[in-house]
Amino acid sequence: MSRRMPAPLKPPPERLYGRSRGHTLRPRQEKLLAVTLPRLTLSVDAAANPRAAFPRTPAAVWLEVGFGSGEHALAQIAAHPDIGLIACEPFENGICSLLSRLVPEGEEATAPLPPNLLLWPDDARVLMRHLPDSCLDRLFLLFPDPWPKARHAKRRFVHPALLPLLARVLRPGAAWRVATDDPTYQAWVAEVMAAQDVFHAAPPGEQRPPDWPPTRYEAKALREGRRPLYWTLVNGGREVGDGR
Ligand SMILES: C[S@@+](CC[C@H](N)C(=O)[O-])C[C@H]1O[C@@H](n2cnc3c(N)ncnc32)[C@H](O)[C@@H]1O
Repeated sequence: MSRRMPAPLKPPPERLYGRSRGHTLRPRQEKLLAVTLPRLTLSVDAAANPRAAFPRTPAAVWLEVGFGSGEHALAQIAAHPDIGLIACEPFENGICSLLSRLVPEGEEATAPLPPNLLLWPDDARVLMRHLPDSCLDRLFLLFPDPWPKARHAKRRFVHPALLPLLARVLRPGAAWRVATDDPTYQAWVAEVMAAQDVFHAAPPGEQRPPDWPPTRYEAKALREGRRPLYWTLVNGGREVGDGR
């Protein structure tokens, strides 16, 4: 797939870097994880047919990698009730933050939940290996952990070795939205995209497109004077191995 690959690069390890647990959880957060999260969690078995996993069959399935506190995921499901969104985030405090906005205190077991949202409280790469071919219409990777040190490049989600998997689960023509404010990661995305021919990669924009809801990390970047870039990468639909 590559014409010119970035410098010698270790493949991404099959482990998650970064935190999955932060502050000690309060009782309300413990309850959200114990009682509400299972009501929304996509199981490994259900991942084999993700459209059928939603209580109401969606017109298409979208996937968000690393939803953080969930503001983008919640805005997308509100704006697109016909779409099913699978939102992935292994960080427990982030999961609690999203769930606390969905469910009033005391109603963790009973509050109605959005029929177009499922959660994968783990590494998105693991989920994608369970997904069938061409099942996703859109993928979001917004302000991924930048891992700016060169020796940590293998930890970055945008990675040459991961592209076949992404191309397999996205339908041909589907869009993969990537945003980052980190200059090292911006250069990295440009370098990885220039060295592959699986995704069509137009130059990134400097303004967030109007239908991309903002995120907490974007707001922080803008407050601190950094300038995000926004890519829409389109799956060219080329066969690139089995991408598993
Ligand atoms: C810098 S935060 C950005 C959060 C959010 N997208 C935003 O813009 O506010 C990156 C998030 O990605 C999550 N993350 C990192 N690697 C991941 C993976 N392999 N699968 C799913 N989430 C991941 C982290 O736990 C973290 O919450």
